[in-house]
Amino acid sequence: MPVAVYPGSFDPTTYGHLDIIERASSLFERLIVAVGGNPAKEYLFDMADRVEMAEQACRRFPNVEVDSFTGLLVNFLAHCGANVVVRGLRAVSDFESELQMALTNRILRPGVETVFLMTSPEFLYLSSSTVREIALLGGPVHTFVPPHVEARLKARFPSLD
Ligand code: PNS
Repeated sequence: MPVAVYPGSFDPTTYGHLDIIERASSLFERLIVAVGGNPAKEYLFDMADRVEMAEQACRRFPNVEVDSFTGLLVNFLAHCGANVVVRGLRAVSDFESELQMALTNRILRPGVETVFLMTSPEFLYLSSSTVREIALLGGPVHTFVPPHVEARLKARFPSLD
């Protein structure tokens, strides 16, 4: 059974991520949730906070661990001895960028396979950026993120419902 890596920004972890993590954890013996960092990108939460939130959310899955990476995903895969990348697919609009990422990773490191899990319908329109926007505008986020993530968002945006 190969080791699989589920990479993402996790800024912050949502119930959509947890849906993919739960389902991928039953498909692979070991799943590494890899919190990515791009120095050119601005995040709401820094790397340490994003890792902590993901770790707390993944505690209930015994075969899931959380790590972080900067730089190329394929280098992180090599470091972990993994050849499988897991990504969630929501609407058709995700497809083009995901195809580009999957093919690029396979060119950069031949043998890397990306496995796509279709999102569960209730999370079809959920994304971290939507959660960040709702939080920024003071709306309720409890239906989208676990309580410990909601608490972090409330600490960041005190006007949050
Ligand atoms: O949650 P996101 O923002 O969709 O995650 C994107 C992420 C972090 C998985 C992606 O940007 C990534 O793999 N970044 C690492 C840089 C890299 O390897 N780029 C080349 C492949 S396109």
